Amino acid sequence: MNLTAPKNFWYVAAFAQDVGRQLLARTLLNQPLVLFRTNEGKAVALEDRCPHRAVPLSLGMLIDDTIRCTYHGMQINPDGSCARIPCQDRIPAKARAATFPVVERYNLIWIWMGDPRRADPDAVPDFHWLVDPDWTVCTGYHHVNANYQLLNDNLLDLSHESYVHDDTIGNDAVAEAPVTATVKNGKVLVSREILNCEPPPFYVKATGFTSNINRWHTTIFQPPSFNVIENGSYPHDGSRDQALERRILNLITPETDTSSHYFWGIARAYQHDDEALTAYIQEQIYYTFDQDKVVLEAQQRNLADSPFPVALRTDAGPIQARKLIDELVMNEQEPTQSEQALDVS
Ligand code: FES
Ligand SMILES: [Fe+2]
Repeated sequence: MNLTAPKNFWYVAAFAQDVGRQLLARTLLNQPLVLFRTNEGKAVALEDRCPHRAVPLSLGMLIDDTIRCTYHGMQINPDGSCARIPCQDRIPAKARAATFPVVERYNLIWIWMGDPRRADPDAVPDFHWLVDPDWTVCTGYHHVNANYQLLNDNLLDLSHESYVHDDTIGNDAVAEAPVTATVKNGKVLVSREILNCEPPPFYVKATGFTSNINRWHTTIFQPPSFNVIENGSYPHDGSRDQALERRILNLITPETDTSSHYFWGIARAYQHDDEALTAYIQEQIYYTFDQDKVVLEAQQRNLADSPFPVALRTDAGPIQARKLIDELVMNEQEPTQSEQALDVS
């Protein structure tokens, strides 16, 4: 399976607190990068390759705002230009490392891996829940050895909660509930309303509801790899205005064709001061997403280039999401020579 990730999008490179005055090596969309902050606190991203002899810059060290290559001491500025070459005054024009546009927002470092002229900061996807005082958030990260589209699929078909997560967030009622999938304004929405079901173990502790509940989740997929799950529950014999709501924030960045960086956050709109509850949710979600990781990595190992042979009703959302991504990738491809020859405008 090829990576097939569109490049002209903002992707998450790191949590903001993980980029500082240490060199951070990270591969995104098959591109090795080095990230750090300047003395003024501005995050920067360069290709992780010295223009001299291709040694990773991340093996070097920061000297003020330059990276000094670990091999022969060439120093590279945050804009990729060469600041100094030991024992040589003339700086060759080609002595530069590629740089990538970076924006810091919602406590995340976002990066643009495509055409830098199109890197509009207003196009950063909305993840305000991460910094909104009306929501209490815990965050986490998983490295997953699976193509990013398998992670999208997973979040767009939550029937797996019944089988993969039956000791935390799932039970039989999830997979048995009817599901709808729609495409609206370039996004895929997959919804489930689960009425009069037993609360799974996580729901009991995270909400305090011990008898039957009504719960819902809607996954909102925004290409290429952002999934916000709107989720809430309330007592079956109560009313919806008693609902306790959460947003499950899933931000995936392809690393290679067969691996992904999975940044996540769980935002809740209740019991804001309950730090023990925040810790419980974070610990349970780490455990729950570890379960996804086991399944996704096993699935990736089994995959060849062949498409999936069977589609179920619950695959409607994942299939729509993959169609949107295919269109975006196709739109980004260079026109072939024959297509160029036809262009007489
Ligand atoms: S490889 Fe970096 S200075 Fe030579
Ligand atoms: Fe899952």
